[in-house]
Amino acid sequence: MTDYDKVIAIDGPGGSGKSTIAKTLAFKMGFLYVDTGAMYRALGYFLDLNKIPFISDDHLKKYLQSIVFRYGVSEDVLVEVSGMNLTEKIREHHVSELASKVSKLPFVREFLFDTQRNLVKDQICVMEGRDIATVIFPGAFCKVFLTASAKVRAKRRYDQLISIGKDAVPLNQILEDIKKRDERDSGRDVAPLKQAQDAILLDTSDLDLNHVIDQMEKIVIQRSRETGFDL
Ligand code: DC
Repeated sequence: MTDYDKVIAIDGPGGSGKSTIAKTLAFKMGFLYVDTGAMYRALGYFLDLNKIPFISDDHLKKYLQSIVFRYGVSEDVLVEVSGMNLTEKIREHHVSELASKVSKLPFVREFLFDTQRNLVKDQICVMEGRDIATVIFPGAFCKVFLTASAKVRAKRRYDQLISIGKDAVPLNQILEDIKKRDERDSGRDVAPLKQAQDAILLDTSDLDLNHVIDQMEKIVIQRSRETGFDL
């Protein structure tokens, strides 16, 4: 046993392949998978729906205390807010912007901090987001920062939206939105998107999924040896 947290922390910008990679890796290795972006998406959507201003003040703090937030409820319900299943809604393109805006608010980040920490119990967890290795689990035994060029990420997001039958957004608009979101996510004061000092950098621009998964498995095994962490 070691003092490390039972977490494989995967951070990186939108479209870097985090979700697909984290989910596939978790399934292959028998670990729990947690998508923290889905939580910010759900809160962004829900606060906007209820016309709650995106300002970190007492009103927002009280409002957050009044909602019931649930993650991983069942196979069909990834995220639910006050009884509303938002699993599909959060994948719409405009929700990315709401999530990025709401994620700047310290009260929102505080609110999700406990939710994310409490999901890790006995099972090893692959958790993906922007600040998992730096803020949520700085003691994670394995940390990977995934990246890819903005162009490649835009094309992936475009293909993803098409594949789930969502409204067609032109590729150049997605590229612009990705660049704007990168700036906002990396430039914010609280928990900005950045590579942890002890994270391994993996650029997926020219790699296919199978190749990345192979690399990730090797990294996890290597880190488990280096840290003495049992898999
Ligand atoms: O990974 P994603 O595209 O679903 O994330 C949506 C937004 O949520 C992203 O623009 C930034 C924010 N986010 C965050 O600030 N911290 C996280 N751990 C995960 C997501």
